[in-house]
Amino acid sequence: MSEKITGIMGAMPEEINGVVALLVNRQEVTIGGRTYFTGTINDIKTVVVFSRWGKVAAATTVSTLILTFNITQLLFTGVAGAISHQLKIGDIVIAKRLVQHDMDARPLMPQFEIPLLGKTYFDCDAYLLTIAQNAVNNLLQNKHLHATIDSAALEAFDITVPKLVVGDIASGDQFISGSSSKNNILQQLPAVVCVEMEGAAVAQVCFEYDIPFVIVRTISDTADEQSHIDFRLFINTISSRYAVEIIKNIYSQF
Ligand code: ADE
Repeated sequence: MSEKITGIMGAMPEEINGVVALLVNRQEVTIGGRTYFTGTINDIKTVVVFSRWGKVAAATTVSTLILTFNITQLLFTGVAGAISHQLKIGDIVIAKRLVQHDMDARPLMPQFEIPLLGKTYFDCDAYLLTIAQNAVNNLLQNKHLHATIDSAALEAFDITVPKLVVGDIASGDQFISGSSSKNNILQQLPAVVCVEMEGAAVAQVCFEYDIPFVIVRTISDTADEQSHIDFRLFINTISSRYAVEIIKNIYSQF
């Protein structure tokens, strides 16, 4: 069996920096404007990279991870805006499936279907999903996140008992910051629980190259008129800790 090489991607430097710090024997190489950090975590070969924002940025970055670094599995951690009204800031979502909410080649094909692939939804890998689920449950049950995050920051966002939801994630090249766009997504894709800008692009590339992947997102905002304010504050104070703790816990199960 070929050696396991894990790729870790994130769309925010604040989150990726903490994960880069976990790498042993760290080296870095820059390709196409991205810095890829290589090394090991728990003796597993790992490549960590900040993808930048949006579907194209994410697709080109994951392609490099696959073709140049030969990764055999991919973990993506980042933040998302809540679409489901059941989700609060600080909750964690693991994608069951991913869909591109801005893909629309009608009338040539059905709305949301990826042209020439005949697919609308991409499934996360069942094994990685279970491991990520265990990791997040461990963190939430042991109140581990509370122990590692400043209590004033948790209070500022009213984060008391964060929960885990496994559900559909929609991605598109749009920061959703208004109730009408939010409700539009909810109406057209009722199973979608949160929205971000990279996951479904990463999922499409991984599907095409047959690379198992999982996407884990922490809710940073509620994708409405308040979202740009909550988003910035959340990134600065909280989300970097979430990413590091989730990754450490996932690796403890590999
Ligand atoms: N990532 C985090 N919050 C988001 C939002 N509201 N829209 C798109 N991507 C996001």
